[in-house]
Amino acid sequence: MNKEQAKKRIEELTKEINEHNYYYYVLDSPLISDFKFDLLLKELDQLENDFPEFLNTNSPTQRVGGEVTKEFAKIKHKYPMLSLGNTYSMQEVIDFDERVRKVIGNDFEYVCEFKYDGLSIGLTYIDGNLKYAVTRGDGEQGDDVTANVRTIKSIPLTLHGSDFPDEFEIRGEIIMPHKSFQRLNDEREEIGETPFANPRNAASGSLKMQDTKEVSKRGLDCFLYYLLGENLPFNTHFENLKTARNWGFKISDYNKKCPNIKGVLDYIKEIDIKRKTLDFDIDGVVIKINSFNQQEMLGYTAKNPKWAIAYKFKAEQVSTKLLSIDFQVGRTGAITPVANLEPVQLAGTIVKRATLHNADQIEKLNLHNGDFVFVEKGGEIIPKIISVDESKRDLINSKKVEFITNCPECGTLLFRKEGEAIHYCPNDTGCAPQIKGKLEHFISRKAMNIDSLGEGKIELLFENDLVKNPLDLYKLTYEKLFNLGKSYTSEESGKTRTVKFKEKAAENILKGIEESKKMPFERVLYALGIRYVGETVAKKLAFHFRNIDALKNAAFDELINVEEIGNRIAESIITFFSKQINLDLINNLKIVGLQFEINENLTLFVSDKLKNKSFVVSGVFTKYSREKIKKIIEENGGKIISTVSSKTNFLLAGESMGPEKKKKAEALNVPIISEEEFLKMLE
Ligand code: IVH
Repeated sequence: MNKEQAKKRIEELTKEINEHNYYYYVLDSPLISDFKFDLLLKELDQLENDFPEFLNTNSPTQRVGGEVTKEFAKIKHKYPMLSLGNTYSMQEVIDFDERVRKVIGNDFEYVCEFKYDGLSIGLTYIDGNLKYAVTRGDGEQGDDVTANVRTIKSIPLTLHGSDFPDEFEIRGEIIMPHKSFQRLNDEREEIGETPFANPRNAASGSLKMQDTKEVSKRGLDCFLYYLLGENLPFNTHFENLKTARNWGFKISDYNKKCPNIKGVLDYIKEIDIKRKTLDFDIDGVVIKINSFNQQEMLGYTAKNPKWAIAYKFKAEQVSTKLLSIDFQVGRTGAITPVANLEPVQLAGTIVKRATLHNADQIEKLNLHNGDFVFVEKGGEIIPKIISVDESKRDLINSKKVEFITNCPECGTLLFRKEGEAIHYCPNDTGCAPQIKGKLEHFISRKAMNIDSLGEGKIELLFENDLVKNPLDLYKLTYEKLFNLGKSYTSEESGKTRTVKFKEKAAENILKGIEESKKMPFERVLYALGIRYVGETVAKKLAFHFRNIDALKNAAFDELINVEEIGNRIAESIITFFSKQINLDLINNLKIVGLQFEINENLTLFVSDKLKNKSFVVSGVFTKYSREKIKKIIEENGGKIISTVSSKTNFLLAGESMGPEKKKKAEALNVPIISEEEFLKMLE
């Protein structure tokens, strides 16, 4: 095949595969078998390999991923991403209708849509090709997640037809269907990773992953609900969306035009029933005015359009039977009672467990063994037990639930501080879940960030007696790690899966551990897992005391004089340093090379001096690297943005700065400052 022929065939195949993707993922009615589809894809892949000059980033072969994004670039939204005013009350929807009619009279149409429970995304198309996919971020600018979004098969990479504007944006919601969610969580449980609490968190976690290959396996989907641009085909929302469906977008069949508020209220009632049978989560209904002219007449508040409102459904509740209660031990020794329930379908997923929080909560519910309980799933939270159906209680046989007195893992007598709701196991150095929990905290992203040691792996190292405290991590060797493995059997599927550290995994783990020695003092302090010393408190303490010895020797009064440090935290710090085992650990970690003091060269500046100031940083600098400059800006309360706009306060210019940025800053009268001038601002 010559070049000319290859180019032609690549174009034909691209078109054909895109068409099949559309029928499969958008219309849900495939035209050909998976086998035939794979053959087409293989042929295209082969041709692109042979003629790489014709490989396009929007080719359907690129949907499987392969790219790794280290950090997402920020992109400013051309049109700010607003949110919607929302309500849980039908009466307020009627009030909304009255407000609307006062401004635009009675001659208008409503459009009712699902309120998808996912993450908003803005897709920009230029000449029919997907250019950017940007998350909401702060509404002004978001993360460039284009590479990840390309892997979502229901999003067209090139549009069908030709009647679309040269440039436009379409917004929608990235969701994780229940089927994908259940599969993902089953897999995570099998390998000992924490399952996601709900499909929205899972979608959000997936979209922020660095490896597009992983994202492509997550089974994400995307519904579109809002078109923006200069030359849209119609002056009405509903008709534009209907047309966009022909361009290849997934637009819901449930979008409905309603002539009046009665139609809207009927739609809400209908969808409140329908939603229980959907394969994805919606958390309400969005009601919009159809005509753009009338939308303009109604206008906007600072955050929301006045031409739309979201009606949110109240969280669904179901009743089910309490089978037993597990008492889980956390890394700090805190005991959390978790109810095992007769599995029940709730808001799209099967619920088997619910948190009971603490002893007070059990007391408040007056919970008895074998009770029927009402379970609810609200927003972010794992299901919780709302109340008990006392009418179904077996009055003769059932006994009140008693909180345990001893640790279920190590048998130590539990204690509960006066005035606190939580029971603790005090055996922090000998109780397995506490040891594992502390190790997991130590390696976690915000602490030492040893991501080559995900949760399941700590378990494996612990079970093989290789790691009992953070110091042991630094004693690991290739020989100890290589070929270490474990088989997991899933309770549900019965399938067995083996995890084994091969050459690469062992090397990566050691590399990650070695890298962690560079982590700054504030992160090491946080990683130690001192009770109540979270990320922010660790930073405050580290910057105030500058090194671990000063912190160790600080008296109670000195501690509480530090901003944000109260009695409870001060006491906890003193208790921590009063234990020889902790002092030994710190000494040994110092010896292996961890940072126990602030690197004075790196944190010359920590202040609020740049508060409310936004900077675009461009070019090469002499005294500090660009990354370091950005860090200094943030450490002093400033904000980094990626593109110059009228809202930018300063363009910080190094050598060989982008000429476009300079031009734009000059045009918008944004001050351009040098590295020296910038450093002076901090003096
Ligand atoms: S329209 C200016 N339509 O809900 C109006 N939003 O706070 C733009 N959402 O940020 C939004 N389903 O992430 C619209 N059918 C729908 C929606 C929807 C879900 C999300 C969106 C928005 C939030 C509202």
